[in-house]
Amino acid sequence: MKIFLDTANIEEIRQAHAWGVIDGVTTNPSLIAKNGKDFIQTIYEIAELVQGPVSAETIAQDTEGMVREGRLLAQIHPHIVVKIPLTPAGIAATKQLSSEGIKTNVTLCFQSNQALLAAKAGATYISPFLGRLDDISQQGVGLIEEIVHIYENYDFETQVLAASIRHPKHMVDVALAGADVATLPFGVLEKMFKHPLTDAGNAKFLKDWETVPNNNIEEAVRDWLAKQ
Ligand code: E4P
Repeated sequence: MKIFLDTANIEEIRQAHAWGVIDGVTTNPSLIAKNGKDFIQTIYEIAELVQGPVSAETIAQDTEGMVREGRLLAQIHPHIVVKIPLTPAGIAATKQLSSEGIKTNVTLCFQSNQALLAAKAGATYISPFLGRLDDISQQGVGLIEEIVHIYENYDFETQVLAASIRHPKHMVDVALAGADVATLPFGVLEKMFKHPLTDAGNAKFLKDWETVPNNNIEEAVRDWLAKQ
């Protein structure tokens, strides 16, 4: 499963990229607004840093406007994926942009029929929103399972990008469901590293190591190698 970071904050992306675990980035208008910086420069910098898919969302609500915005956004960087809302106009724009070889991420998907339409339109990614479904007492992960199943039935190439991830358990759930990609906020990524037994075990190993003679690994190995 690929992991995308769901943020427009370049510092968060820099840190996650340094950990070597992210394959791409998703943004949306709210995340761009929260970041508060020039959006084109931000998207360019993210794409340069990550060297993987970076979703940038269209704002026009009509097909022609979405196609125009999508064609322009795609020129910012070869890694740009044009993000388009799942409306009739958006699906038509997806069909057009896909036919031109422009990568698309159809967003705001809340039911499997919408995912079927996005796949028919040739979307590169479909983004079902788990967290927002959980917020209204529906099973977000159930939607991921359904879409994965439907796409497998018909060999659709559209990748299932699990979005609106709220906590580490969501990551496990979508990985088990067979999502191709999950996009998560930086805070959830940080939590994926954590387990109290890891911290306790690490502390105990360090304490015990203090009793080992000649315990500086770098010096000890270099000394040993020099004697061989
Ligand atoms: C996905 O691409 C969206 O940007 C995002 O996952 C939405 O998450 P939210 O429901 O936490 O805003």
